Amino acid sequence: MTALEIKDLHASVDGKMILKGVNLTIRKGEIHALMGPNGSGKSTLSNVLLGHPRYKVESGEITFNGKNLLELKPYERAQVGLFLAFQYPMEIQGVSFAHFLFSAYRKFQSAPITPTDFKKMLEEKLAVLDLDKSFVDRYLNVGFSGGEKKRAEVLQMMMFKPQIAILDETDSGLDIDSLKAVATAIKSMHNKDFGALVVTHYQRILNYLQPDYVHVMVDGKIVISGGKELASELEQKGYNWLQQEA
Ligand SMILES: Nc1ncnc2c1ncn2[C@@H]1O[C@H](COP(=O)(O)OP(=O)(O)OP(=O)(O)O)[C@@H](O)[C@H]1O
Ligand SMILES: [Mg+2]
Repeated sequence: MTALEIKDLHASVDGKMILKGVNLTIRKGEIHALMGPNGSGKSTLSNVLLGHPRYKVESGEITFNGKNLLELKPYERAQVGLFLAFQYPMEIQGVSFAHFLFSAYRKFQSAPITPTDFKKMLEEKLAVLDLDKSFVDRYLNVGFSGGEKKRAEVLQMMMFKPQIAILDETDSGLDIDSLKAVATAIKSMHNKDFGALVVTHYQRILNYLQPDYVHVMVDGKIVISGGKELASELEQKGYNWLQQEA
């Protein structure tokens, strides 16, 4: 079943057109990788999907389970089952990570949960991510190392169980063990009810994830799509040969 469908999307930031006709369909059960040179528009696409106010959709459509996503506010997008992990996560002072997770969980999940069951679930996920229990007693992202911030994003994804997750460079800056832990976590969610768009510059995470599709964005458009062998080809050839396609 189609979950996220993007059709001929054009979007601008501060009057500058960045996305110039993006077409992409992500069904539940599929893992897609999005690659492409710096500045090609990958994070812009993530921000548009989130509903960031600075990013203006000029034309095209985005539907989520057949409904117009663009009419929904950012928190409503999360409520219907879209999750976004940022390239640069924000620090939130004064709120413990555990408290943040619990209140967000109760807001977004319809099924009620007791604090004890919640704690048990949280501890299971922390173990998969190789994080200490005390990690969630800290303020969200405050003083977290780069790699800890990325794992904190993945922890949120695991707790909220979205239908579709957009992970923008969640693998950047991770050491080898953290990368494995994050890939294992994403894989542990991979089933027929979960799909993901993994934005990455590196083949390494894709070796673990074995994506169903690899797309390359150049100058605001997806210029080529293929299977995971496309990622190896890019590793060899770089992106220059694709610039003329844009
Ligand atoms: N808020 C903004 N103000 C001005 N320009 C912006 C803004 N956001 C994005 N851009 C521009 O849009 C283009 C695309 O940026 P984007 O962050 O989407 O690229 P990217 O593909 O994610 O790159 P990277 O691989 O480096 O993360 C860039 O030229 C960038 O400078
Ligand atoms: Mg980016």
